[in-house]
Amino acid sequence: MRPQKINLALTPTPVEEFDLEGEKIFIKRDDLTELLASGNKIRKLEYFFFKAKEEKCEKVVTCGGIQSNHARATAYLSRKLGFKPVLFLRGESEKPYDGNLFLNYLFDAEIHFVNSEQYKKIDTIMEEYKNYCEKRGERVIVIPEGGSDEIGLWGYVDALFEMENFIIEKKIDSIFCAVGSGGTYAGLFLGAKLLGLNLKICGILVTRNKEYFTKKIKNILERTIEKYNLPVKFDSTEFILYENYIGEGYAIPYNEEIELIKKLSKKGIILDPVYTGKAFHGFLKEKKNFNNSLFLHTGGIFSVFAFKEYF
Ligand SMILES: Cc1ncc(COP(=O)(O)O)c(C=O)c1O
Repeated sequence: MRPQKINLALTPTPVEEFDLEGEKIFIKRDDLTELLASGNKIRKLEYFFFKAKEEKCEKVVTCGGIQSNHARATAYLSRKLGFKPVLFLRGESEKPYDGNLFLNYLFDAEIHFVNSEQYKKIDTIMEEYKNYCEKRGERVIVIPEGGSDEIGLWGYVDALFEMENFIIEKKIDSIFCAVGSGGTYAGLFLGAKLLGLNLKICGILVTRNKEYFTKKIKNILERTIEKYNLPVKFDSTEFILYENYIGEGYAIPYNEEIELIKKLSKKGIILDPVYTGKAFHGFLKEKKNFNNSLFLHTGGIFSVFAFKEYF
């Protein structure tokens, strides 16, 4: 048993083969899942919006960084499907409004800026907001950071299932992805387990550290296995997480990454400075440990505009 969803993403997304200085590279193009909801979040949001419709919600509430792709995809899909988007964004309103933040204003999302200290309690803040609205008779769904929980992870179980034949045919032994809130990683990991594939899921952290994500991903998986009564056993020592590609911190790009983004652009692939640029950098360094790896491009194109000065 698994939760229900509505179909929103343009799937299956293609896996393309590129030649990068003589090296053969496979890229799963989840940057092509949609236009305004492009990237990995739409696959998770298919499940949350089903729930929002079923529970007859008026408002969809979520959170993230100022340039959060998840917040932008949620705001857009809310408007498309007739909900009012409410965003709690970490940081201060930056000017000029650019990238995802600009789009959030165009979608006329209700935006609340919170500082880093407040953001540590973001789940409580969103819950309090929900209670406040409900007292006024409004139905609200709260989607956690990055849509990473026992509902959202199913989006990446789906993505893994979508790749099953390709993985078997091409003898793919490892998939690399960015880790920002852990749901994509958890979904891919669970998908591989459910299909019984001998596949390593490799996560390149773009924030926090390995200890934090080991705990978080383990927790999401345990809750999912219990809730949906899945015949799956795992040990967190099976997680392959790299914490040495973060650089100075979340959303702080570094030179090697920017140069790589420029290089890939010449192939017609746009990586973003917050997630996929760092993840691709890690992928190129770490894939030597495997025989045949695939990179999952999780999107993020709009944030490029907010980082123009780095280019
Ligand atoms: C473009 C992009 N790639 C990767 C990620 C990481 O995915 P997850 O939050 O599921 O770890 C995110 C969001 O955090 C993202 O916006």
